[in-house]
Amino acid sequence: MLSMEFFLFFFVVSAIICQALAHGSELELLSKELLESARQPEFFEWMRGIRRRIHEHPELGFEEQKTSELIRNELDSLGISYKWPVAKTGVVGFIGSGASKPVFGLRADMDALPLQELVEWKHKSKVDGKMHACGHDSHVAMLLGAARLLHSRRDLLKGTVKLVFQPGEEGYSGAYHMLTDGVLDDLDAILSIHVLPQVPTGAIASRAGPILAGVGMFSAVIQGKGSHASSPHLGKDPIVAACSAVLALQQIVSRETDPLKAMVVTVGSIEGGQAGNVIPETVRFSGTFRSLSSEGVSYLQKRIKEVIEMQAAVHQCNATIDFMEDKHMPHPVMVNDEGLYEHAKKVGNTLVGENNVHLLPITMGAEDFSFFAEKTAAAIYVIGIKNETLKSDRPLHSPYFFIDEEALPIGAALNAAVAISYLEDHQVSVAAN
Ligand SMILES: *[C@@H]1O[C@H](CO)[C@@H](O)[C@H](O)[C@H]1NC(C)=O
Ligand SMILES: *[C@@H]1O[C@H](CO)[C@@H](O)[C@H](O)[C@H]1NC(C)=O
Ligand SMILES: [Zn+2]
Ligand SMILES: [Zn+2]
Repeated sequence: MLSMEFFLFFFVVSAIICQALAHGSELELLSKELLESARQPEFFEWMRGIRRRIHEHPELGFEEQKTSELIRNELDSLGISYKWPVAKTGVVGFIGSGASKPVFGLRADMDALPLQELVEWKHKSKVDGKMHACGHDSHVAMLLGAARLLHSRRDLLKGTVKLVFQPGEEGYSGAYHMLTDGVLDDLDAILSIHVLPQVPTGAIASRAGPILAGVGMFSAVIQGKGSHASSPHLGKDPIVAACSAVLALQQIVSRETDPLKAMVVTVGSIEGGQAGNVIPETVRFSGTFRSLSSEGVSYLQKRIKEVIEMQAAVHQCNATIDFMEDKHMPHPVMVNDEGLYEHAKKVGNTLVGENNVHLLPITMGAEDFSFFAEKTAAAIYVIGIKNETLKSDRPLHSPYFFIDEEALPIGAALNAAVAISYLEDHQVSVAAN
């Protein structure tokens, strides 16, 4: 009896192990095949061409007309249906075999920055003062690459993939606006990739939990009373009040918040007065505040208001503070869903090898993709682009920012492999329906 039970136990355990191995090697095969397809010379040049065309014609937030048209043309030639416009210039493509659920999203942002490109190369920005210095041109190319990979395997999909081409990431809350359109209400999970020059080409990186800060913006006006500089007693000096307020703001983080909980308050602009011998009427200043928790963000917002108002009052001035709530500020903390992070990591291991899947340090940067993370399981993965020979190690938002285009097939294949295997793992069984 005992030996029989042992035999059964052994049998069951080995069956489970075999199944796991088969599943693991299936994923490995899928990843390899997708990456190989995306690296085929014709496929690679097609993707690179898309990225370069967008790079030459950068468009700012909610002005991405040509970029949006290029995306729609490529989806048309691939035979992929889509909804447009979503949030003005945004596009949502659909790929599936008929099973509507589950729904997996892949997101790319589309906008450029108001920056003059200083890299001299053949495909330099043709628009003065505008540049794709955050790599969103490559995100679009990688998502179209994924679209092509997925479309050619659409019969294998155990659900629907939604391709989310989002406008206005750089301070326009484009993600928020896309979510107000019902087309994304049924997302079960969504992945977004972002290139990063701190990570070498060939590697990817991410982490579970909070990964980027929740961010708020404020702009303050201190109202005083102008007078001759020789008669301060006839005026109310807003310059002294603003200086006190700016200094007092520095003490919120240093004196009031837990040193083990990261927070930032920065005043980044200040403006007031025209002449050295005049006390002006007003002074304006503006800044940003960040935290890795939503409580932290609300606390900072509350205290920034109090500190500025009270410092103004001390100096007999008045203050008004705008937190740009009409522009959907503050943005939530970007929290990577643990399950989706682990899933994409498993896929990444098979795609680029375990040694090339890095743990990304938390930074106080921000991403409006956090609006998606607030609504559904979401994760950001970083695609490495650093290659010192190519000087593609310059920071995001630098006029010298440059991309190692060898990263394009990796981004495309990661997008596609994560989507296919997510739908596979979460497929809705026919019996359960
Ligand atoms: C501040 O506001 C109060 C109340 O509206 C007003 O009486 C006062 O004159 C204002 N002070 C300045 C310096 O504008
Ligand atoms: C960096 O780019 C150069 C030029 O394209 C290439 O020869 C080299 O192999 C790349 N290095 C790495 C580490 O990818
Ligand atoms: Zn950016
Ligand atoms: Zn970006």
